[in-house]
Amino acid sequence: MHKLLSVMLLLAATWPALANETTYRKHIRPVWEEQCERCHGASAPDYANFMKNPRQYELDDKGPRMDSYESLLFFVKGPEAGLLMLRLDDGGRDGQPGNMYRHLGRKEERKENLALFKKWIGEEAWILKKTGDITQEDLQRITARE
Ligand code: HEC
Repeated sequence: MHKLLSVMLLLAATWPALANETTYRKHIRPVWEEQCERCHGASAPDYANFMKNPRQYELDDKGPRMDSYESLLFFVKGPEAGLLMLRLDDGGRDGQPGNMYRHLGRKEERKENLALFKKWIGEEAWILKKTGDITQEDLQRITARE
């Protein structure tokens, strides 16, 4: 009985982690190809080069390149941690949505895709903070599986 109880407790503790099977490859990449690639794909400059001349790239509809799992993580929990969440968020009830939110698709699709990104990062981990304000604990909560 004792053993059974501890097994059940263990299961309960790991359940949220097991339940988040949202992965970059299976779920995020297809949305990215459909909605983000034309501006953030292989023909876009990498972050360092983008930052040398952001205005000019913006005029060409090019943002920094995010065409791999690693280069996307750069904006999730890397040097520019939190930026992806700020840009994709719908702003909740009264806030302004991030400026990439509208690229998530039309109407229902947009909401579904936002929900998918949230699931991938982790519902608990989804925060709207500037990179400099993000803590180690914030980063550790982020799932964002490959
Ligand atoms: C029509 C072109 C276009 C599309 C489509 C687009 N973006 Fe962007 N994105 C840009 C440009 C240009 C910038 C840089 C200007 C700025 O920061 O707003 C940018 C900036 C960003 C940034 C901030 C990067 C930084 O360092 O400033 C993130 C994160 C981002 N986009 C994510 C996405 C995601 C995710 C998608 C798909 C859902 C997407 N974008 C779709 C053009 C686009």
